[in-house]
Amino acid sequence: GAPVQADISRLEPGQRMTVEWRGRPIWIINRTPEMIERTEALSGDQLADPDSEVPQQPTYIDGGLRSIRPEIGVLIGICTHLGCSPLFRPEPDAEGVGVDNWPGGFFCPCHGSRFDLAGRVFSNVPAPTNLEVPPYRFENDDIIVIG
Ligand code: FES
Repeated sequence: GAPVQADISRLEPGQRMTVEWRGRPIWIINRTPEMIERTEALSGDQLADPDSEVPQQPTYIDGGLRSIRPEIGVLIGICTHLGCSPLFRPEPDAEGVGVDNWPGGFFCPCHGSRFDLAGRVFSNVPAPTNLEVPPYRFENDDIIVIG
């Protein structure tokens, strides 16, 4: 499949947009400073793969935020358990997520897998690995090329 371009010029802080690449949903999240703080503060022992050692991302992606720019997260929006579409639950007080100290992220309604705003999977959920980060680059400040 050909690469796709995403224009993030109107993606407000705190919001998420979706584009399609190779028939899959690609989520782009504009994380606020506060969301970044919450994500970075998450204790590693709550996460199954805190250092992203499982190869779920390109080699040029590293760090806890799993992104090129700290505020812009790019993830494949497919649960790594059985492929459902997790829900965007970015707020710490989101209802129904079922975990204390929820830092905001993504919640899969199918079997209850939880991911943070960097797509890192929580411990003790059915999904075995972090959400995938697709290959991408910034064409300029506003345009991301995925693929
Ligand atoms: Fe997401 Fe099973 S498909 S938890």
